[in-house]
Amino acid sequence: MIEIKNIYKSFKQKDGSDLTVLNNIDFTIKEGEFISLLGPSGCGKSTLLNIVSGLEEANSGEIIIDGSPIKGPGSDRGVVFQEAALFPWLNVLENVKFGLKNKGISESEINETALKYIKKVHLSKFKESYPHQLSGGMRQRAAIARALAMNPKILLMDEPFGALDEQTRMMLHYELQKIWLETRKTILFVTHNIREAVQLSDRIVVFGTQPGRIKEIFEVKAARPRSKNKGYLLELENRILNVLKEEIEKVMKEEMGDEYHFEEGSLPWDPDRDMGSHI
Ligand SMILES: Nc1ncnc2c1ncn2[C@@H]1O[C@H](COP(=O)(O)OP(=O)(O)O)[C@@H](O)[C@H]1O
Ligand SMILES: [Mg+2]
Repeated sequence: MIEIKNIYKSFKQKDGSDLTVLNNIDFTIKEGEFISLLGPSGCGKSTLLNIVSGLEEANSGEIIIDGSPIKGPGSDRGVVFQEAALFPWLNVLENVKFGLKNKGISESEINETALKYIKKVHLSKFKESYPHQLSGGMRQRAAIARALAMNPKILLMDEPFGALDEQTRMMLHYELQKIWLETRKTILFVTHNIREAVQLSDRIVVFGTQPGRIKEIFEVKAARPRSKNKGYLLELENRILNVLKEEIEKVMKEEMGDEYHFEEGSLPWDPDRDMGSHI
């Protein structure tokens, strides 16, 4: 269980003032749960994920994992970022084996474990390939295999499919659902794509901006794999969109000032459109 307790985070800006990025973030993630953090660009999703990973420190509040407050990064948490952070000079197998070398297990066990997770992400054919020889989707699968091979209880994923084309992203959604069903890891997944959040999550924590705070938490009550539940999922997407619309319009007004004129119903809202980066 991950308890996110009353997190407050601000950053010093260039002019010396403090920018509050997260205010009063408080919720609990159950063991084995798949949770998404959803919200427009700049609302503090990555900051919260980095605080949970231990890479970033909150000004106040605590992250408690299975009863103990975290004090920094730990092997109980694996992280996958948008751009797969693979070592370019190592092939897929060597990349996946890399972290296992400090685990005090034998070379044959390291090899076996790495191959097992490479197989799980269907990259066995490419295990000798180097990152530059792989597609973006393959690189993300290799990064997922590397994180899973360390057998963390918790997987933290920051827009892992954000840079991929639609077809690849859909395929990886399916793969990730399968992996989650098999391994039952606790997954904290950051996205700004509503459809992605709805496809994957048990619960979706919708963030508001300025400063980042929780607007609403949605539960996705649909069996997996999710493609068959179209009606219910579309309705949920629209409910979430209505909550987020307000936030996105706030960001647009802020950025465009007096030049911003919004007529009701004039924006082509689409739950599958990425929010923020296009503004
Ligand atoms: N290290 C930092 N120093 C100063 N400001 C930061 C830093 N990291 C993030 N920010 C600011 O905090 C806000 C939230 O950023 P981030 O968590 O990356 O948002 P998101 O992931 O939701 O797009 C942004 O305004 C960003 O510019
Ligand atoms: Mg981010």
